[in-house]
Amino acid sequence: MYTDTPNTSYFRKDAAFDTLYPGHIRELSQLHWTGLGVALEASNFLASPGARVLDIGSGVGKFCIAAGAYHPEASFYGIEQRKDLYGYAETAKEQIGVQNVFFKHGNLTDLNYDQYDHFYFYNSFYENIEPGSRIDYAVHISYELYNTYTFHLRAMLDSKPAGTKLVTYHAPDKQVPAGYKLVGNSYSRYLKMWVKK
Ligand SMILES: C[S@@+](CC[C@H](N)C(=O)[O-])C[C@H]1O[C@@H](n2cnc3c(N)ncnc32)[C@H](O)[C@@H]1O
Repeated sequence: MYTDTPNTSYFRKDAAFDTLYPGHIRELSQLHWTGLGVALEASNFLASPGARVLDIGSGVGKFCIAAGAYHPEASFYGIEQRKDLYGYAETAKEQIGVQNVFFKHGNLTDLNYDQYDHFYFYNSFYENIEPGSRIDYAVHISYELYNTYTFHLRAMLDSKPAGTKLVTYHAPDKQVPAGYKLVGNSYSRYLKMWVKK
C-alpha cells in the first residue's frame, strides 16, 4: 500500500537507502547501482512537469526510486532483464512509497520507446565486454550482445525528436549518436548531460 509522501529517512545517505535490499544486493551497490547524489543531479536535468524518463537497464531501481522521490512532477520508468532485480525494485518502491515510478521486467530490445521522453543510461551493457564485472550468471553475456544492444540504443536515441535529454554515467561517448550535444558534466566527467539538437 502506498503512502502519500515518500519515506524520506532512506535518503540521508546511500547506506541507508541500500538497507531496502538484501545483503548480496547491497554488496553490489557501489559498482552497479546509481548513488543518491548522482540520481539527484541526473534527475534535476531530466525531470520537468509531465516528463516520462526511462532508465535503460534499471537494476534494483535505485535511480528511478530516488529520482521519483526528488521529482514528483515527472514519472520514472525502468526496464530490467533480470527478474530477481526487477522484483527487488518493486519491493523497494513499495517500501519507499513513490507513486510516479514504474518498473517492467524484460529486455530493452522489446520496449516501445514512444512512451518515453528522456533517458538515463548507466553503462548497462558493460558486463558483456568485461565479464569480471558481471552482476550474476542469470543472463547470457557476449560481445555480440554488447554490439546488438549498443546498436539498438543508438538507433532508438537517433529516432527521438530534438529536445530529447539523455544522461549517461560511466558510458563511452561512442554509445551516444552524433545528433546529441554534450551540455554538461559532473563527477569528473563520468556523468554527462546531453540534448538532441
Ligand atoms: C549498471 S546496472 C544499473 C542499474 C540502474 N540503472 C541504476 O543506475 O541503479 C545495469 C543494469 O542493466 C541491465 N541490463 C543490461 N542489459 C539489458 C537489456 N538488454 N535489457 C534490460 N536490462 C538490461 C542489467 O541487468 C543491470 O541490472
